[in-house]
Amino acid sequence: MNLKKLAGFKAAEEVKDGEIIGLGTGSTTHYFIESLGMRIKEEEIAIMGIPTSYQSFLLAKQWKIPVTSLEEHDVDIAVDGADEIDSDFNLIKGGGAAHTLEKIVDYSAKRFIVIVDETKLVSKLGTFPVPLEIISQSIKPVFQELKDMGADPEIRMAKYKDGPVISDNGNFIVDANFYEIDNPIQLEKDLNSIPGVVENGIFSQMVDEVILGTSEGVKVLK
Ligand code: A5P
Repeated sequence: MNLKKLAGFKAAEEVKDGEIIGLGTGSTTHYFIESLGMRIKEEEIAIMGIPTSYQSFLLAKQWKIPVTSLEEHDVDIAVDGADEIDSDFNLIKGGGAAHTLEKIVDYSAKRFIVIVDETKLVSKLGTFPVPLEIISQSIKPVFQELKDMGADPEIRMAKYKDGPVISDNGNFIVDANFYEIDNPIQLEKDLNSIPGVVENGIFSQMVDEVILGTSEGVKVLK
């Protein structure tokens, strides 16, 4: 059983005719967008999507989901994946380097649903490094600040391009390993107060619901 698919398809059932949907990024939201596209085709529902990355934009186009923007519409529901989620529904996101626009869209939604498989559940955030989108000229001072905070930072390097990953917004991505995060709410604020940091991948106190794909079936947590 594909647990990501289970969660993604279940989330698509939550969408109602006429709604504006925040389209998250990643392999789990891939299934959500696919399922939304099938609903548009089969049920002729009139929905519009607001993409959070080039990936979700291109997928929306592929599935013929009309695309709009935050300028034109408010978001009814945002559906997005996560790299880690704790029992208070705090998240680490940005494994796909899309967390800046994801946070803007997810935060602005009336309802924010996270879709994950059960491997993403953790008792404490931090095993997954916190992604930071940074202005390229700020590497040195940002690294120094992160080290002073007890983290091990690394510039994310591209796999099919020489050199660093460049985000959809033209910036570098730093993965800061904190190992164990005691206070994600405070850390989210502290990281964004470092000059040069555009946005960090901790999403605290934002999630309304979690749709969890488990080997025993799909579970909805509120
Ligand atoms: C994109 O930058 C991320 O925030 C993803 O939403 C997150 O990495 C989850 O991705 P998967 O659904 O591929 O695990």
